Amino acid sequence: MRNETIAIHGGYEPDPTTKSVAVPIYQTVAYAFDSADHGAALFNLEADGFRYSRIANPTTSVLEKRIADLEGGVGALAVATGQAALHFAFVNVADGGGNIVSVPQLYGTTHTLLGHVLPRQGIGGRFADSDQPDAIERLIDENTKAVFAETIGNPAGNICDIEALAKVAHRNGVPLIVDNTVATPILLRPFEYGADISVHSLTKFLGGHGTTLGGAIVDSGRFPWKSHADRFPAFNNPDASYHGLVYADRFGPKAYIERARSVYQRTMGSVLSPFNAFLLLQGIETVALRVERHVENARKVAEFLRNDRRVAWVNYAGFPDSPYYALARKYLNGNSSSLFTFGIKGGMEAGKSFYDSLKLITRLVNIGDAKSLACHPASTTHRQMSAEQQRMAGVLPETIRLSIGIEHICDIIEDIEQALSKATAQPSLQAAE
Ligand SMILES: Cc1ncc(COP(=O)(O)O)c(C=O)c1O
Repeated sequence: MRNETIAIHGGYEPDPTTKSVAVPIYQTVAYAFDSADHGAALFNLEADGFRYSRIANPTTSVLEKRIADLEGGVGALAVATGQAALHFAFVNVADGGGNIVSVPQLYGTTHTLLGHVLPRQGIGGRFADSDQPDAIERLIDENTKAVFAETIGNPAGNICDIEALAKVAHRNGVPLIVDNTVATPILLRPFEYGADISVHSLTKFLGGHGTTLGGAIVDSGRFPWKSHADRFPAFNNPDASYHGLVYADRFGPKAYIERARSVYQRTMGSVLSPFNAFLLLQGIETVALRVERHVENARKVAEFLRNDRRVAWVNYAGFPDSPYYALARKYLNGNSSSLFTFGIKGGMEAGKSFYDSLKLITRLVNIGDAKSLACHPASTTHRQMSAEQQRMAGVLPETIRLSIGIEHICDIIEDIEQALSKATAQPSLQAAE
């Protein structure tokens, strides 16, 4: 970056104490060029630097580097929301047509994106019967462009066998794209198990305070686009919209992420505001500490609920009788996410009453906030799905999803205790016990 030039024309001023260091003084959308040749080199992607804030911004760029480092990737692209990141991640591999094969346990809006919106743009979303690798492999064909999974499903809490899914994807010549929002790189680094692309809603644990939307795509740099040139011509053939650039040749291991920026961020502009990038950077400074406390609190709440006679079931991967216990040990170091579901005795009516009685735990649809949150997925996040699709996504009519925060554990449990008491105090529900 040419500090001197930016200092004069691009919103930076030289620091009078050091002369050589530039400090930002105001916000700008564009960055001055030294000359026509310098501008041309930036536009040709031959020189590093900034030209226009829709494509890259110095503050957002720091966020991208940090997320790429946390995941162990070669590069990242920050965008306005997690959904924008998912959209770009899918179209970047499949924009000539084809299909994405996915596990069924997904966040509701991602299910809608794959099942309804992308198909209208010529990209099919195929949902397997389960998250098992053989169920995924059965759906892959010559038009498949990627396998997709949430490393920990929201809200199902299923833990995907990333290593096995990566093997299936690679044996069929396609990348494994994962949404690592719920796990975060603090609990799980998917590239270490063979995933190729990782997507995040930064809105959740990484930001951590429920104040700021953001999304990111991270590239492991390991998928061999050149070895699969027939399936992925967009990375291997000259791009007419970018004066004949061949992404795999020009960017090597960064081909995927640089194409996402040059094609999608440039033309569709789902830009993360630099101020939001700054807020998300603040969140990332404490994410490791917060996740530790989230996980510790969630285990105590899950244990409390399991031992309570008013509770019908608790779906928590950290219990040895969970079908995901072995995967929790393998991928999460024996930990489990602070996002989990449970059902109260008395079904839907009791569940609603419990939900309405919460005082400390907030009723809203976000997750990963420092504050404890609760949601009723069947009536909100997963409302657009059929009853069968809800069941496959891990949502029953009575399901309550908890995102346990970092408050004092006694306060969280006291709130749950009083809400359970109110919910089961009604005579009709006592009869159901
Ligand atoms: C797992 C997962 N991925 C993606 C998203 C979408 O993120 P955003 O709200 O930032 O668009 C969410 C939102 O809840 C989510 O839970």
